[in-house]
Amino acid sequence: MNPLPEDFIIQLLEKNPVAEEFQKFHIRLNACEKGFACSCPFHSETGKSCIIYPETHNFYCPVCKNGGDVITFLMLMQNLSYPEAVQILAQRTQLTVPEQSPEEALQLQQRRERCYAINRDTANFYYCNLLKGPDKKGLTYFKQRQLSPQIIQKYGLGYAPDDWHQLQSYLNQKGYSDEELLLANVCRKSEKGNIYDNFRNRVIFPIVDMHRHVIGFGGRVLDDSKPKYLNTSDTPVFDKGRNLFSLHFAGQNSPSSLILAEGYMDVIALHQAGFENAVATLGTAITPQQARLIAQYTEEVIIAYDSDSAGQNATQKAIQHFHDVGLSARVLHIDENAKDPDEYIKKFGADRFRLLLHHAESVLDFQLNRCKNDLNLETENGKISYLHRIIRILAGIGNTQTQEVYITKKAGELGIRPEILKTEIQKFSRKQEKRESHSDFRNIENFSHARDAINPQASRNLYQSKSEELLLAAMMRLPEQGNYISSQLRPEDFVTDFHRKIYNILCAFLPECSWFIPSLLGAEFSAQEMGRITGIFIYYHDKLNEQAVLKCIENLQAGNQPPPDKNNMSNDEFSRLIANKKKNTRLIY
Ligand code: GTP
Ligand code: MN
Repeated sequence: MNPLPEDFIIQLLEKNPVAEEFQKFHIRLNACEKGFACSCPFHSETGKSCIIYPETHNFYCPVCKNGGDVITFLMLMQNLSYPEAVQILAQRTQLTVPEQSPEEALQLQQRRERCYAINRDTANFYYCNLLKGPDKKGLTYFKQRQLSPQIIQKYGLGYAPDDWHQLQSYLNQKGYSDEELLLANVCRKSEKGNIYDNFRNRVIFPIVDMHRHVIGFGGRVLDDSKPKYLNTSDTPVFDKGRNLFSLHFAGQNSPSSLILAEGYMDVIALHQAGFENAVATLGTAITPQQARLIAQYTEEVIIAYDSDSAGQNATQKAIQHFHDVGLSARVLHIDENAKDPDEYIKKFGADRFRLLLHHAESVLDFQLNRCKNDLNLETENGKISYLHRIIRILAGIGNTQTQEVYITKKAGELGIRPEILKTEIQKFSRKQEKRESHSDFRNIENFSHARDAINPQASRNLYQSKSEELLLAAMMRLPEQGNYISSQLRPEDFVTDFHRKIYNILCAFLPECSWFIPSLLGAEFSAQEMGRITGIFIYYHDKLNEQAVLKCIENLQAGNQPPPDKNNMSNDEFSRLIANKKKNTRLIY
């Protein structure tokens, strides 16, 4: 049961329409029969699988199975806990969150608070160890990379000693248990069960969020050994795909643009050279969530990835994500003589880098220039391949005037008539539309074969699991039926743990209420679980009838002993009961 009163949750949902929240994240909506359809922000697609249901305050994507309400949406988009998301939405609409006491809701929050505290103390430990520890290797390393004492202090850079237990002992002394150190991932556990420091003999880059919490760390070796960088694994407060290094500096004061670099060292070197609007991902390729995060802080992003081919391929992927969130992007072209922004600034200085920024090319030019890569344009084959590549890009230009300009330009370059190029582009577009509808279908298939982490028992017990889903949907949609269902089924009759948990909560919840929406379960389940529950709520909406409910009850009873006080109601009796209840049910949706 949600520790927050129903009235409050409903008010919160009504004052923060889920569709408007999507738009705040630059997601384009199209009106549809059920509400709105959009490209799903939680997986990459060209179609519009994600549906928003304004009446029940839900959204759901049947492909990646993410869904929920405006609270879930904010949790997923900004890596927030349930209480944090509620707090933000309440504040925004001048609602006061009622005092909440139940322990479970607080427990997660307390775990997060502990992680923040451990991280802060850990960062402090590494920082002091860098500056005052007996081993000067870390400080020497940073000096050799030309970092000033000021920048070291500003970023709180540190050094993890070459020792397996120093941090552990330090934090134990401060009162943190080993379990807590593992939870925050500052320590790890060996197969034999020994606890040891995660980062050893590495320089440390603390990762800080917009609320100035230390949420994780990156650590670099001092030599050429591998792996070069080590990052904190995901913890209750850290998710690599949803945060950006240095955004707490870069996002201040509404910058007109942000620079996206590949590495921590690039960002710090840029910052030191006066480009304080630089950010980097946390050791992984940029995600759609990070693209949206950037879009919240600025209008334009300049991609400053490494000049090698890996960097250029990563640029292409980043461009796609920025396009999806409607953020305009440009691409910095770093000279052959320097690998990354850090090297460039060291070799040529900040002023030359500023010129480079100024001349950053448009995404279109970047993509068209890339078409020539590894082709010999002197040969017929080379020319034809080049033509195919540019057709694909020119076909994607939405603005007709821009498209005209580029068609003329490229036709001239290739020595063909613009009309011919235009006809080819139109042909390509028509084929592309067909291909896209196929690929979205494949997407659905891929996701449905993925391992089910939320309900791992479902695939082995498909038949029962489907029956469980239908019954849960019936309980949610027509809560007064819940009493009948709960009189027929014991929790043990549920085969899958996930569905049993929902069942138990609904059984406790429903006698007190005559209507229901999944949002009332929000505090009990993770954002991913809420997606699944919303899916059940939506999928079975038009599949609920007496026969189906009775059949599913039977299915679940079949594999088990009948409950001791089984109510032997006939089908007719049951139909009457439901007809009666339906009349009384306050069906608000
Ligand atoms: P320097 O060599 O210190 O200049 O680092 P860099 O930032 O130029 O590194 P590089 O271009 O090799 O990598 C860019 C970013 O990718 C780093 O900042 C890390 O976040 C990440 N990265 C690099 N190597 C590894 C690795 O071995 N493991 C992980 N998880 N991430 C890495
Ligand atoms: Mn580098």
